[in-house]
Amino acid sequence: QYIAEISELNQLEIHLKEILRVENVIIVPGNSDEEDWVKQEMGKACVRYLKKIIMPNATIAVTGGTTMASIASVMSPLDKVDNYLFVPARGGIGEKVENQANTIAAEMSLKAQGNYRLLYVPDPLSETSYQNLINEPSIIEVLQLIKNADIVLHGIGDALTMAERRKTPENIKQKLLEEKAVSEAFGYYFTQKGEVVHKVRTVGLQLEDLDSKEYVITVAGGSSKAKAIESYFKQAKSHMLITDEAAAIQILRDS
Ligand code: G3H
Repeated sequence: QYIAEISELNQLEIHLKEILRVENVIIVPGNSDEEDWVKQEMGKACVRYLKKIIMPNATIAVTGGTTMASIASVMSPLDKVDNYLFVPARGGIGEKVENQANTIAAEMSLKAQGNYRLLYVPDPLSETSYQNLINEPSIIEVLQLIKNADIVLHGIGDALTMAERRKTPENIKQKLLEEKAVSEAFGYYFTQKGEVVHKVRTVGLQLEDLDSKEYVITVAGGSSKAKAIESYFKQAKSHMLITDEAAAIQILRDS
């Protein structure tokens, strides 16, 4: 049902750019809700794009999630440039270890033959621990690298799915329901209009840091994420959306 011709995908890409107001869109065939290989195809498209844009000495900040993990699984050496560094975009936000940004940054860097630095912070963080941590010299050093990252790779999740997966406290889940959160990215939860309704307290990249980034690459697919993608792009600073056919078709239907 979801395998379009290349020319149809190209048409879809043009429509999606207009609807979401994003400069670049790549759509891979299929529906990643149903088939795991589709996530890998998004991963391969992401690695190809990364190879095109990467500059020497680049720092790449990555978030967590199964989509990011799929990119790591298909990562290969990023030719011709050297000395690139992978870092997690933010501290842990309740994911299983294989889906954590630290694990993904390390795997990407090993496969890309780059370097990595990790960020060890527990979550959720109380205000006091937060203040103490951000004054620790070893944390300050990694945070500086993260803030200065040239390229950001991140996923988008459906708000309630993510809240559930991250074992979010009941009162916060209630708040997300009441305030009608639709999407989640970087530990921020957004409404349909792209307004932030909740933010997981952790260190690392903040939403406003994206403004100064040279490349922000968003990777998210599956028809179940259509609404989340639309919501995130209401406020997004992103240069590239890599998605799949099923999400693209659903976004078009919604528009
Ligand atoms: O922030 C968004 C999530 O990390 C997306 O997770 O790729 O497993 O759907 P996922």
